[in-house]
Amino acid sequence: MDHPAGLVFDAYGTLLDVASVAAACEARWPGRGAALTTLWRERQLQYSWLRSIMGRHADFWQLTGEALDFACAALGLDLAPADREALLAGYLRLSPFPEVASALGRLGGLRRMVLSNGTPAMLRAGLEHAGLAGHLEAILSVEDVGVFKPAPPVYAMATAHLGCAPADILFVSSNGWDIAGAASFGLRTAWLNRAGAPAERLGVAPEIVVPDLAALADVILA
Ligand code: LAC
Repeated sequence: MDHPAGLVFDAYGTLLDVASVAAACEARWPGRGAALTTLWRERQLQYSWLRSIMGRHADFWQLTGEALDFACAALGLDLAPADREALLAGYLRLSPFPEVASALGRLGGLRRMVLSNGTPAMLRAGLEHAGLAGHLEAILSVEDVGVFKPAPPVYAMATAHLGCAPADILFVSSNGWDIAGAASFGLRTAWLNRAGAPAERLGVAPEIVVPDLAALADVILA
């Protein structure tokens, strides 16, 4: 494929596995870890969209905590302050997906950066803990624009950073709705369909669909 001016990666669910908090959830509430992990992530994203629509921005760290509070309440789980703190801290130590570090290394000839809903502090901590920060020239956070994906000003941070047209950037995410937002803005897109999900029905389609980042590196370097 034509090499883009830069590769822009989503963080949570794309490079970092948000399901890696499940073990800590399961340890506290045996038999409920998977349900809590799923509902926690769903509400985290829903709160980001809803706050964007409402014009009530709060940062992703706050939303992640409030989503955990909601998910525990909905599942009837008593969340002690120490457990809340420990579970949230898990978001700073998420595991990278296994192929990510080597694939980012193979793509070292291209400019690579993250563009994420996360706060600068949580992204820096998470990407450093995962051993990925050294592959990235920049970690762009929505905190600079005060609205969450898929609002267009977020994707405009990538064109501003790279100083190029949207069509010169390849945006990479495992989140189908994030891919739709990026494509709607005009970025080229590669959907890492890690979960084998059906395509989103949002009026725009990804250019590339691959199962993981290793497969995308194969396509880019072919
Ligand atoms: C992010 C969300 C989409 O990292 O997971 O921006």
